[in-house]
Parts: sequence; C-alpha cells; structure tokens
Amino acid sequence: MAFNKRIKIKNILEQAPIDSEVTLMGWVRTKRGNKNVSFIALNDGSTITNYQIVADPTVISEEILKKCSTGACLKVTGKVVASQGSGQSSELNAESIEVLGEADPEKYPLQPKKHSLEFLREIAHLRMRTSTFSAVFRIRHALAFAVNKYFNDKGFFYIHTPIITASDAEGAGETFKVTTLDLMNPPKNTEGKIDFKQDFFERETNLTVSGQLEGELAAMALAEIYTFGPTFRAENSNTTRHLAEFWMIEPEMAFYDAEDNADLAEDFLKYVINYALENCQDDLQFLENRLTEEEKNKPADQRSEMSLIEKLKFVSENDFVRITYTEAIDILRNSNPNKKKKFQYLIDSWGADLQSEHERFLVEKHFKKPVILTDYPKDIKSFYMRQNEDGKTVAAMDILFPGIGEIVGGSQREERLDVLTKRMEEMNIPQEEMWWYLDTRRFGATPHAGFGLGFERMVQFVTGMGNIRDVIAFPRTPGNAEF
Ligand code: 4AD
Ligand code: MG
Repeated sequence: MAFNKRIKIKNILEQAPIDSEVTLMGWVRTKRGNKNVSFIALNDGSTITNYQIVADPTVISEEILKKCSTGACLKVTGKVVASQGSGQSSELNAESIEVLGEADPEKYPLQPKKHSLEFLREIAHLRMRTSTFSAVFRIRHALAFAVNKYFNDKGFFYIHTPIITASDAEGAGETFKVTTLDLMNPPKNTEGKIDFKQDFFERETNLTVSGQLEGELAAMALAEIYTFGPTFRAENSNTTRHLAEFWMIEPEMAFYDAEDNADLAEDFLKYVINYALENCQDDLQFLENRLTEEEKNKPADQRSEMSLIEKLKFVSENDFVRITYTEAIDILRNSNPNKKKKFQYLIDSWGADLQSEHERFLVEKHFKKPVILTDYPKDIKSFYMRQNEDGKTVAAMDILFPGIGEIVGGSQREERLDVLTKRMEEMNIPQEEMWWYLDTRRFGATPHAGFGLGFERMVQFVTGMGNIRDVIAFPRTPGNAEF
C-alpha cells in the first residue's frame, strides 16, 4: 500500500468528517495529560491550527506515548469525533500511533516556550516548525502565486533571465564573481592582470543584480513580460531591509510611459496584498496577534496606529500619493526633523540622494500612505532611465511603503539611441560590451518601461516581520551562509 494515505489537517478542519476513520501525519507541538488520557497537539504544516489527538493509555501503549514528545513525527490513525473541550470543533480518538521519527527531549532545541527570533535564526533548519515561521512561509507562497497569477491573467509572459551574466545592470559594481579559475594561481595576461579568457566563460562573469536588461530584450518581442528570480548584491549592508541574495519581480512593457508604469505598479501591489487578505486569513490573524503582543512591550507613542490587517486593507483600498522628487525635497527641507537637525543626513539642496530616514518620514509621518516618488535627478539614477525635457531629471519612480521604505524601483527607459549612448559615455559605461542592449534601440525601438519589486520586502510588509532575514527560508547576509 502506498504510504501517503493521509488527510491534511486543513481538510479535516474544513470538512470535519465526524465518525470517519482517518490517518494524520505530522509533528508533535505539545503533549499534556494525566495517567488516564493524553492530548497531543499535532501540526502537519497545512494550516496554522494544530489538531488535537486524544490517546487513551489502554489503547496506545505507554512506551509509544513516551516517544510522542515535542518535535517527534507521528502517523496517527483513529476516528474523528466532536470535541469535548473548547478551542476546536473536532478531534481524533487515536486507535494506533506509529512514531515515524523520535525527537529526544533532552536534545531537541525547539521546546514549547517562547523563543526569540534571533535564537530561531540560529536554528533556521528547524524554525519553520514554529507557528510564526510556518505562517510566514505559507504567506510567502501565496504571494508568489499571486504574482504569477496577476501577470498571467493580464497576458504577460514569464521570462527566465540568466543568473550568470557578464554585465552589472545597475552599474553599481557590487557583484559576486563567478569563476572556475584556480584562486591560488590564476592565469595572468601580458599586463599582469587575471586572464579571464582562460576562465569557464572566456570572460569575466558575475551573479546577476537584476534581470532587467535581458527583460527589455524580451519586451521588444513579446511586448509585456516579467521576470521573477533570484538576484545577488555584494553590498555590505547589515540592515533589516537588505539581503545579499533576494528575489525580484521585474515586469517590462513595450508601449508604456512613466505614468502607465506607475499605474501598473500600484494595481499590481494592491492585487497581491488583496490576494493575501483573501487567502491567508488564519495566518495573517496569527501574525497580527503576535504583533499586538509585541507592541505591548513598546512605549505608547511607538505603537502603530493600525493592526496588521487594517494596514493591509488601508493600502489596498486607498490611492497611493504621487509626487516628484523636487516636491519631496521641498517637503523634507521644511520638515521638523530637518529644521531640528534630527535627520542623520540633513537635506539642504536639490540633488541630494534620499536616505531611508527621509523616505520613511514622507510615508509614515507626512502622508501616512504609500508614495510614488518620480522624476529624480539623473545623477543619482541608472544610465538606462529616460531623460526628461528639463535635462536634469529622469523618468524614474520609487515606491515607498510604510515600515519598509523603498519597495519598488523602476523607470521609463531611454529608447533614443543618441541620448542613451551619450549618457553611457558620461557615466563611463562601456558600450562595446553592451552592443546587444543597444541593438534594441537600433532596431524597432519604442517607448517602454518597467520596475522591480523586492519580493522579500513585500513579504515583510504583508507579514509584519521586522527583519528581512525572517521572511526568506535561509537568508544570505554578510557573514551568513550556514544553511
Ligand atoms: O531599485 P533596484 O536596485 O532596481 C533594479 O534593480 C531595477 N533593475 C528594477 C527594474 O527597473 N526592473 O531594486 C529593485 C527593488 C528595490 O526597490 C527593493 O525592493 C529590492 O529590489 N532590493 C532589495 N531587496 C532586498 N535586499 C537588497 N539588497 C535589495 N536591493 C534592492
Ligand atoms: Mg532602487
């Protein structure tokens, strides 16, 4: 007989087939009881809710019951009965229990008590067995599914852009090198530099920082595409918003200008948030309760005005604010924290790059809404962004979210070959290596635009998790690649 003849706890809860014989498989969260009866809370990952197993010691031997400790994996067969206790509508009267895997209580690190998120990060291989992390990862799944559904329903095509590339799309230079050369003894060329012609790809390569440039090539044929893949940045940013390996969603659309781009981004973000609200109610409620508990330890003026679910509804139901960089600078320059020198970086003139303290001021204090900031100075943005008529700004957009800061970065692209190549010259971007990118401007160029959504930042926003390391299964940050 096949092994996997089981019913998922989620399905039992939905159907409650009273009196039927079922088999459950899952991990013990807790066991309590006395010499007459044991209650085991079992979780199989299908839902936040544990299912109660009732074990009568005259049916299940003491030896087996002893092994049903926290963390052990069980196969339980029995009858679904209406529950006597409060807290659940049905429970399972165990007729047989097979211990699939024991978990020595002396050694199992996840005993049923409150663990800090920092401690759980150190046991990332086990932390998905907690309610908090299993909720986060079910929601992460739902969000990824919503991303694909949104674009599929709109007729966008999912393009898989390469992970190993020879370009640094953002021009920031913070890439991880990819090589098979002997690091102890790399071949050198006549100039004494490493001879990458002898490397695997016969050129210098790195892990991609963005799929955008290849995405643009695809948009020049399929018109509306998106990528959704891992991206890598070797920036030494030890913050609660940065990972060295993160997932990015990058739609790219022919025949879109900057306004079309912002409209799509706003609609997309709202859709994805709504999808979670509709499909992840139990998990969101659990995380909301968790946050409410956490907030009780904070001083009253630092508590958030809205609960997690209220905040998600608010963002999905209200228009985002749209302002230009120039308007934002005026607001910031005249703001209290700037006048009272509370910002770490004071805003004194047009052209300054915005730091996350400024972004968060605009979103959390000034507008109290997501903000789409547009038309940044060209000198603080990438070479590919389309230059505006004023000669000073580009058709860039960043979307800023409460509690997160920048969640989306994008722009209308420079489709005019002469303007683009001039900008590349000014910014010292080698054109010979980018001949394929420039070809799209030589042959059948058209206005087009796109943006990138940092997937983990979206998961953070929806789950309310404060640290980005807690929304990806195995985070990669400076000094951390253990699991
Ligand atoms: O603003 P970024 O750098 O834009 C791009 O990469 C463009 N090529 C996107 C495009 O137009 N197709 O990154 C986009 C988003 C940011 O807004 C942020 O949400 C996220 O990616 N992001 C990070 N997320 C986690 N860790 C990091 N180190 C991140 N760097 C950027
Ligand atoms: Mg950006």
